[in-house]
Amino acid sequence: MQPRLRLPAHRPSPYAWMMESTALDWTPSSWRARHAAQSPTWPDLEHLSRVEAELATKPPLVFAGEARRLQEHLALVAQGKAFLLQAGDCAESFHEGSADSIRDKLKVILQMAVALTYAAGVPVIKVGRIAGQFAKPRSDEFEERDGVRLDSFRGHIVNDEEFDADARRPNPERMLAAYHQSVATLNLLRAFTTGGFAALSRVHAWNQEFVANSLEGKRYEVVADEIERALQFMKACGIDLHDDNALQAVDFYTSHESLILPYEQALTRRDSLSGDWYDCSAHMLWIGDRTRQIDGAHVEFLRGVANPVGLKVGPSMGVGELVALVNALNPHNVAGRLTLIARMGHDRIADKLPTLVQALSDEGANVVWACDPMHGNTFVASGGQKTRRFDDVLSETAQFFDIHQGLGTWPGGLHIELTGDNVTECLGGGSRLAEGDLDLNYTSICDPRLNATQSLDMAFHVAEFLQRYSGANGARSL
Ligand code: PEP
Ligand code: CO
Repeated sequence: MQPRLRLPAHRPSPYAWMMESTALDWTPSSWRARHAAQSPTWPDLEHLSRVEAELATKPPLVFAGEARRLQEHLALVAQGKAFLLQAGDCAESFHEGSADSIRDKLKVILQMAVALTYAAGVPVIKVGRIAGQFAKPRSDEFEERDGVRLDSFRGHIVNDEEFDADARRPNPERMLAAYHQSVATLNLLRAFTTGGFAALSRVHAWNQEFVANSLEGKRYEVVADEIERALQFMKACGIDLHDDNALQAVDFYTSHESLILPYEQALTRRDSLSGDWYDCSAHMLWIGDRTRQIDGAHVEFLRGVANPVGLKVGPSMGVGELVALVNALNPHNVAGRLTLIARMGHDRIADKLPTLVQALSDEGANVVWACDPMHGNTFVASGGQKTRRFDDVLSETAQFFDIHQGLGTWPGGLHIELTGDNVTECLGGGSRLAEGDLDLNYTSICDPRLNATQSLDMAFHVAEFLQRYSGANGARSL
């Protein structure tokens, strides 16, 4: 067994009392003794129990072995040998699970991965915010309109976004609907990623028409042409491209915020091989910035499952708190187990992130650092729509790379909200979307997402940041 992550003996830890909390026994239901922030007020607890019991009889969505494989891939990220791309909807919708929308999301993620891998020479680990991303933490418990006060919309696994008393009432049946939509989505993703659609020889086909006409789309075409030429060269040399699994299929993993714990517990199963508990609702689960209390239910639940886990790290996180959370979630300091997803905001990252990265680096903590440049950069436009500026998103990402370069640590990943559709939700980017354009095609049920062109634009910028990083840190072998 690997040693627990501890502060070195010659520097007694001021947080030792917090670390002791990790010694407590864990069971899939031990979270129930803790406060679960951001939980819906279910109107009928018996109904909730019936649904939990039914969910517990359902087949798992993912297998423990797949989650272990992702953890091995994330260990490569923690070692600076790969890059994590985690992307997808802010909130998946019950009204939008069509094959086309799933395919188009996958296309843009594959395109981004190609841009990153080709330009920067780094293997890219692809994780979707998909097939289970149905629950949302909210800043306000209630929403008031014209004197009427209703529960806030908490994602389709809980209630509906329509401002209507029935629609907003939390309904446990929705957990079953979320499970079934996740099953259908994952089934299609598995078919797409292993059934030929994701074969590298189809690299051109991932460029959708509306993207292909943009500057970024044209830049992608150049990369795709070169990849195609390289494949033809390999074929001419006698290499059987159909025989090579790496060219025919991609590893694509699922993830979502572990927020609705009755749902997560019901899908938690003991792996017969290792004896460990896995949350089989997704390969990777993360804890949001609003539910990361060290003594809270969400930390308690995820510390005991063996999946790779993520932790959002917002601007209010202190060093002591972070060290305690890292110890609680990854007590044996296993590389790939814990991904820290910084979401500071472009105007705060320079002030907040370096101390945290430095502290963990000093302790020898094996973690992946990823950048979520979306959630610290949201504001309300003059027309009332929630939006984000592409330039702010890019600026936070650029600073994330600079900070890691300065500290000699690895900027391990990018976590973004995107869609494959031609939406108008974030400002700027290649198409120079303006505030007046936001209503043209604003379809997100929660936060604003980068559209396919803006996402590709982002990938080319990040590829440059990676190239620059590798150039400046020549010693690091990728
Ligand atoms: C999210 O990732 O959709 C989210 C709500 O993030 P955070 O917890 O960082 O606010
Ligand atoms: Co969001």
